[in-house]
Amino acid sequence: MASEFYQLLSSIGYHHPLHPAMTHLPAGLTIACFLFALLGYLSNRPQFTRTARHCTVLAFLSAIPTIIFGYFDWQHFYGGAIIFPIIGKMILAALLLLFLCVLVFAGRKSQNVTGRQMALYFAGFLVVIGLGFLGGELVYNKQTASEQKTSAGEISEKASVTDGKELFEKKCSACHLADSPRTKVGPGLKGLFQKEKMQVSGWPVSEENLKRQLKKPFDQMPAFDQLTDKEITALTGYIKTL
Ligand code: HEC
Repeated sequence: MASEFYQLLSSIGYHHPLHPAMTHLPAGLTIACFLFALLGYLSNRPQFTRTARHCTVLAFLSAIPTIIFGYFDWQHFYGGAIIFPIIGKMILAALLLLFLCVLVFAGRKSQNVTGRQMALYFAGFLVVIGLGFLGGELVYNKQTASEQKTSAGEISEKASVTDGKELFEKKCSACHLADSPRTKVGPGLKGLFQKEKMQVSGWPVSEENLKRQLKKPFDQMPAFDQLTDKEITALTGYIKTL
């Protein structure tokens, strides 16, 4: 279902993940509810407490679609791979939802913020920071050496190689390093075409077997049926330069 949804979006020109655009809402609102609750707690003024409560309700409501889109993005862009930042984000998102839910219900009648509620607001604030950090890990913690190589012009100017690099970063880099043979989720692909055999499957390294790995992958890698021949050629061209 998710893939049809993304197809629909890309047919209207939207190709990005949805979750990062949505996260600002619950993240900002959770920080706002923490700050207003703190003001209410310190000053004992009910209007701050009320604002904190309204922000909490909005944070809770906006967290739900954000989590759902996060799940869709994970399936679509990461093939549902079990990787550390994503699992960490799921645990934190569940905690955040729980904290907000408790605050929404617990704060229904009280005029003032209690010490216990304040602790939960603070915990929610910390969780949001943790979520932002893990999101950053996911998006920016990619090895950049290969990018530097490109800018230095070492890679041939052929457009297909550049396309391949872009595709690789979008579809493969969540699981494969481009600048090292070290394993991330799958083996690093640096120097793949200088090897005789692929590390895990033991298949001889060739263009056909790379294509086979994408269409009918060995073991745990998700299949990339949707790649066109042109895209595979571009990817192959890029992987050969690694
Ligand atoms: C969700 C994680 C994931 C994604 C995304 C992914 N792979 Fe893989 N890949 C793996 C795993 C895991 C293996 C090791 C084989 C196995 O255990 O199934 C692998 C193996 C490979 C191999 C064989 C390498 C060797 O030395 O054995 C190649 C080539 C490869 N992947 C290319 C790609 C390309 C190109 C893409 C992007 C279109 C891609 N992979 C996307 C997880 C992934």
